[in-house]
Amino acid sequence: MNEFETTGHSAGNGAVHADLHGAATQFRFRTERLEVTALGLNSTCSFRLAMRHYAGIRVVDVSATGLGLCATEPLELSDGILLEEVSFQHAGRTFCLGSALVVYPQIHADQRFGIKFLGEPLSLQAVRFCDSLVEQKIGRTMELQANYCEHLPADWRAMVVTFYNVMIDIRHHLDGYEQNDATGQWREPEISWQLCGAVFDKIWPAISKLNYDLDVQAQGFDANQAELGQSFAQRLINLEFPVCEFLDRAYSKPQGYAGDYRMMELGQTNELVGSTLFARFLHYYSQHTPLGQTIKARAGVAYRAVAEVIAQDRPVRIMSLACGPAVELRRLLAEVEHFKHPLEILLVDQDEDALRSCITELNRVISKRGDNPPVIFHGLHFSLRQILAPKKGGEQQLVNDVLSKVDLIYSMGLFDYLQQPLARRTTSRLFDLLAPEGRLLIGNLCRVPESTWMMEYGVAWHLVYRKEDEMFDLGHGIEKSACSFQVLKDRTGNCLFADARRIN
Ligand SMILES: C[S@@+](CC[C@H](N)C(=O)[O-])C[C@H]1O[C@@H](n2cnc3c(N)ncnc32)[C@H](O)[C@@H]1O
Repeated sequence: MNEFETTGHSAGNGAVHADLHGAATQFRFRTERLEVTALGLNSTCSFRLAMRHYAGIRVVDVSATGLGLCATEPLELSDGILLEEVSFQHAGRTFCLGSALVVYPQIHADQRFGIKFLGEPLSLQAVRFCDSLVEQKIGRTMELQANYCEHLPADWRAMVVTFYNVMIDIRHHLDGYEQNDATGQWREPEISWQLCGAVFDKIWPAISKLNYDLDVQAQGFDANQAELGQSFAQRLINLEFPVCEFLDRAYSKPQGYAGDYRMMELGQTNELVGSTLFARFLHYYSQHTPLGQTIKARAGVAYRAVAEVIAQDRPVRIMSLACGPAVELRRLLAEVEHFKHPLEILLVDQDEDALRSCITELNRVISKRGDNPPVIFHGLHFSLRQILAPKKGGEQQLVNDVLSKVDLIYSMGLFDYLQQPLARRTTSRLFDLLAPEGRLLIGNLCRVPESTWMMEYGVAWHLVYRKEDEMFDLGHGIEKSACSFQVLKDRTGNCLFADARRIN
C-alpha cells in the first residue's frame, strides 16, 4: 500500500481523505474575525472589573475567541487582568460570555484593547443570524408591512386579499375534484373546458367588479403607492399563479421579457394547458377576461384585413410586424379556398423563437392543404429599431429591397410597448414602406380595469394603453394629402386600430 492508499471506509461512504486538498494560496490559518462595521450595527460590550461595572464599550471586531474593544476613556488595564460577567450586545440581543482576560491593553492611542474569552467560544453564526436574518431581512419585512399599512388604503388591501382568497378556494375545490375523479376524465380537453368555464362563470360577476374597483382606486395612487401596491399584490397573487404558463410568463419574464409570442399563442388555443385542473382554470381565466378575449378579437381584424388584400386580382405583399405566432395567418391560410395570385408574407419579429415557431406552424398549415398554394414566407429576425434606423449595408438594403412596397402592413401587440413619440415615428416610417394604395393597420389595447388591474398589479405586465385621440395622433407625421386615416375597433371594443390608407 503506498502512502496515498486508504483503508477502512469505501470511497462511496465519504471522501477519500488522501484526495482532500489544502488551500491553494492562503496557507496560514487564523480563526474567522468579523469587522463590526461589516455587520452594519453598533455592538457594545459590558463587564465587571474590580467591583466596578463597565457598559457600552464599543466593539470593533469580533472573533469566536475574543473581542476587540475601544473605550471612550482610559481604563486601568494590564495584560492578563481578569474581567467578569462579560457580555456582548448585538442587534438587540445579549450574548453572555462569562470571564475573559485582557490582552494587548491600550496598544493604540485610541484606547483600544483586546479580550480573550475563558469560557465557551462565541458563535459567529449566531451573531450573523441575528444580524443578517433577524435585523436585516425580518427587519425589512416588518418595515415593508408597516409601509403597506401606512400608505395603502385598508379597503384596497382587503380587496386584494379577497381576490387571493377566492383563488385559493378555487384551487382547493379543483384539487379535490381531481382527486375524486378516479378515471381522470377532467383531463379530456372538452371536460376541462366545461369545468373551468362553469367555475369562471360563477366567480366572474363578483371578481370583475373587484378587479374594476381595485384598478379604479389604484389609478389615484401616487408613484410610491403604486410601487407598494404592486409589491403587496404580487407577493400574494404569485403564490398561486405560476402554475399557469400564461400568467407565469407575464410575471417571471423568462426571456428577459415575457416572451409574448407564446402568450399570444396560449391566448388563442382551444385547448387548456396545465398539469392540474387549477392550472387549466387559470389559463381559461386568462383567455376570458375582457382583454383576454381581445387577443382573439383583434386577430380577427387582422384576418379580415389580410383577406381583403389577397382578394385583389393581383399578386400582393403583406408584412406582419412583431408577428409573434401569427395565429390569424394560420387560420386564414387554412381557410382561404384558392390562392389565384402569389402572396408574399413578410414576418418580422425580434424574437428568433417566435419566428421559428411561427414559420413552422405556417408551413404545417400550407402542407396540410395539399394544393401547394403560391404563398411565400420571409421570416426576418429584425427589430423595430433596425427598421427605423437601419445600419448602412445589409440592413439598409433589406429594408429598401424587401420591406418596401408592401400592400398591407399590420402590427398588433407592439405599439402597446411604445411611448407616443416613438409610436408616431414608427407609424410614419411604416407608412413610407407602403405600396401605392397600401394599408397600414396598427392595433393597440385600451385600458379595461377588469383586466388591467391583474396585468399591472397581479403579474407586472405593463403596457401602454391608448385612447382614440392618441390613436389619431399616431398619424401626426403622415402627410394628410397622402392618406386617409381612421380609427377602428375590434368586436370587443378594447383594441383600437389606427387604419391609414395610402391614397397614391
Ligand atoms: C404581444 S406579442 C404580439 C404577437 C402578434 N402580433 C399577436 O398579436 O399575436 C408581441 C411580439 O412583439 C415582438 N417584439 C417586441 N418588441 C419588438 C421589437 N422592438 N421589434 C420587433 N418585434 C418586437 C415580440 O417578440 C413578440 O413576438
